[in-house]
Amino acid sequence: MFFGRPSAVTRRCQSRKSVGSTLELPFADRAFDVVLSAEVLEHTPDPMQGLRELTRVVAPGGRLVLTTPGRLWQPVVRAASALHLRPYHGHENFLWPARARDEVTRQGMRVVSCDPLYRFDAKAIRARIAAIFDEMVAQTRQNAGEFVWDGAIPSVDALARLRSAAMDLFLEDYDAGLSEKRYVDAELPSLPFADGAFDLALCSHFLFLYTKQLSEDFHAAAARELCRVAREVRIFPLVALGGAPSERVEPVMAAMRRDGFDVSIEAVPYEFQRGANRMMRISKSRVSASWAGESSTPAQV
Ligand SMILES: C[S@@+](CC[C@H](N)C(=O)[O-])C[C@H]1O[C@@H](n2cnc3c(N)ncnc32)[C@H](O)[C@@H]1O
Repeated sequence: MFFGRPSAVTRRCQSRKSVGSTLELPFADRAFDVVLSAEVLEHTPDPMQGLRELTRVVAPGGRLVLTTPGRLWQPVVRAASALHLRPYHGHENFLWPARARDEVTRQGMRVVSCDPLYRFDAKAIRARIAAIFDEMVAQTRQNAGEFVWDGAIPSVDALARLRSAAMDLFLEDYDAGLSEKRYVDAELPSLPFADGAFDLALCSHFLFLYTKQLSEDFHAAAARELCRVAREVRIFPLVALGGAPSERVEPVMAAMRRDGFDVSIEAVPYEFQRGANRMMRISKSRVSASWAGESSTPAQV
């Protein structure tokens, strides 16, 4: 808390003071070019949460300047406190440097999403959602037996609220994402990225889901294209609309194996569409792993 007249620095930088917790910063994502935190995190009950929050508010290309003691020193400090050599009380949760570094790196990942939907502006997308939302909810109510209703999504009304909140979040981020090229107007089977541009490509609720609408050749070409741009590809789910297993799974698996990729079908801990709890993972076979790209960017289609 500060009292008295604003300092020269405050006046010159036009800075404002704000009271809040480092564990729940009262600022928007990517709000600041420079974030400075000196010897604070270790005095909070959850320093990793504090680190996530500090990282969250740094703008792309910005800087987080952070000092906090490393966990290696904690036994020494505890001993000094026990001997009353230090006058401090309260939390002293020192971080492991490697864990802190991993967390910051993870937060710094770039995610690029591709969809032909992104050729429309936010206003058009919002209008389209408004036009079909009630119909989508009514259809889900009619086909409620096709879905798993549990603690995560207990009812159709809860689903409608979740979807609506997700859409709001997406649309809030949309204009910034377009200008930062995080949302890219593109469509499979041809993507505007260099070979090996991404570590991971996720294809969710498109391939296999539209089995009736998209041919076997389209599926194979799309899978090849995803493998061209990313080191690893995951496609989810493996069922078609209506919930039947997709007849495209076997041919895609065979085609990718013929091309020299490792392909596996794996269970995932998420099932909303009944029976949709498996994904296909495709990666370059380890024998010729030198193909892998350099970037650490995941992509989502
Ligand atoms: C059922 S939605 C899934 C959206 C999102 N991936 C998800 O899992 O929530 C199918 C999406 O596929 C997009 N789409 C249609 N044709 C496409 C293509 N050729 N390549 C990539 N995406 C396409 C549609 O615009 C739509 O957003």
